[in-house]
Amino acid sequence: MAIYSIWNNKGGVGKSYLTFQIASEYAVNHPDKKILVIDLCPQGNASGMLLGGMQEGERVLNELSSQAPRRTISGYIEDRILSPYVNPHTGSSYHLKVSDRNAEVPENLFLITGDEQLEIQASRVLGATAPGPTDAWRIVHTWMSDLIEDIQRSWNQVDTTVFIDCNPSFSIYTELALSASDRLIIPFSADGSSKRAVRAVLALLYGITRASGGLQSQFYLNCQQFRLPIPKIYCYIGNRLTQYVRSASAFRTVVHEIGNEIWSVWQSNPNIFHIHPTGSGSPANRAAFNRMFQYEIVDANTASVVSSSLGIPMVRMTSGSRVVAGRSVMVNQSQLDNQQPNIRDLVRAIE
Ligand SMILES: Nc1ncnc2c1ncn2[C@@H]1O[C@H](COP(=O)(O)OP(=O)(O)O)[C@@H](O)[C@H]1O
Ligand SMILES: [Mg+2]
Repeated sequence: MAIYSIWNNKGGVGKSYLTFQIASEYAVNHPDKKILVIDLCPQGNASGMLLGGMQEGERVLNELSSQAPRRTISGYIEDRILSPYVNPHTGSSYHLKVSDRNAEVPENLFLITGDEQLEIQASRVLGATAPGPTDAWRIVHTWMSDLIEDIQRSWNQVDTTVFIDCNPSFSIYTELALSASDRLIIPFSADGSSKRAVRAVLALLYGITRASGGLQSQFYLNCQQFRLPIPKIYCYIGNRLTQYVRSASAFRTVVHEIGNEIWSVWQSNPNIFHIHPTGSGSPANRAAFNRMFQYEIVDANTASVVSSSLGIPMVRMTSGSRVVAGRSVMVNQSQLDNQQPNIRDLVRAIE
C-alpha cells in the first residue's frame, strides 16, 4: 500500500486539482485496487470536484456535514478528540464511494470529504498532543494511519492506494496527513514565491535550513524523537507554469531555480527521496534525476474549468460545448491534447 500526500506550503499551486485528476486517472489504470482520497483541507475543494463539481459537490458536502455524526473527516476527528489515545476503530464509517455521487469517476474510487469544521477542531487536536501520556504527540500523529487501517480492514486488506489532499498551512491537520504518508508529491507554480514555498517544505519537513543553526520545526524534531517516519519526496510538479509568467524564458528560470534547489538537496540528502519505479537505481546525473522526480502539467484553460466545475476528470473529457453555472463554455480539442498526456505520464509514474 502506498500513501501519498499532495502538499506544498502555498495555496493555489494545484494541490486539489491534481489530487482530483491523479486519483481519477490512477483508479482507471488500477481497476484491481481501491483508491482512497482523504481530503484534509477545510476548503474541501478536492471533495467538491470528485463529488461532481462546484454546485453538485457543494450540495453533497452540505448533506454529508449535516448528518450526525458528520460523514466527513471531521466526524472521524471528533471521535479521536473524544478518544485520543485509544483507537475507537470507527474509521470505516466515514468514507463514501464517489461513483454513487458522480458517474464520471470509476467505481474503485472512495473519498473521505474535507470539512470546514477542521479549522475549529484544530485547537482541540493540538490540545490532545499534550499533556496526556508521554507519547501523546506520537499517538495523535497516528490518527490518520489508524483511520486508513480501519478502512483497509473493512475492505479485507485489498490493495489500496491513498491520496491525501492537504491544506497549504503547516497546521496540525497537515501534520496528521504528512505523518500518515510515505510519499510526498509537491506541486509548484512559476510565480516568484514558489521557490520560497519549496524551501519551506524542505525546512519544515526535513529540517533542511540554508543557514546553519537555523530553527527546525517542532514537527521535524518530534518525528526524530518519536521515530515517526517522514514521507519521502516522490516528485515535484511544475503546474500551470505559464499562468503567471508570460515569457518562456522567465518561466524556465523559475523552474530551473527550483530544480537547482531540489537537486542540491538530493546531493546532500538522497535519503529523503523515494526512488521509483521500484527496482530502479539511483539517478546518476541531473538529467536522470529530472526524469525521475520532475513533472509538468500545463494549463488547460477552459477545459480545466469545465473539468473542475462539473467533476469530469480531464482524461475522460471530450471536446464540445458544456454548460457551466448556466453559461455555455467551449472545450477545444487542443486544450485537451495539451494536458491529457501530462496527466497520463504523471500517473503512469505513480506506483
Ligand atoms: N493545470 C491546470 N490548468 C488549469 N487550471 C488549473 C490547473 N491546476 C489548477 N488549476 C486551477 O487553479 C486554481 C487553484 O488550484 P487548486 O487545486 O485549488 O490549488 P491548491 O489546492 O493548491 O490551493 C483552481 O481554480 C484550479 O482549478
Ligand atoms: Mg486546495
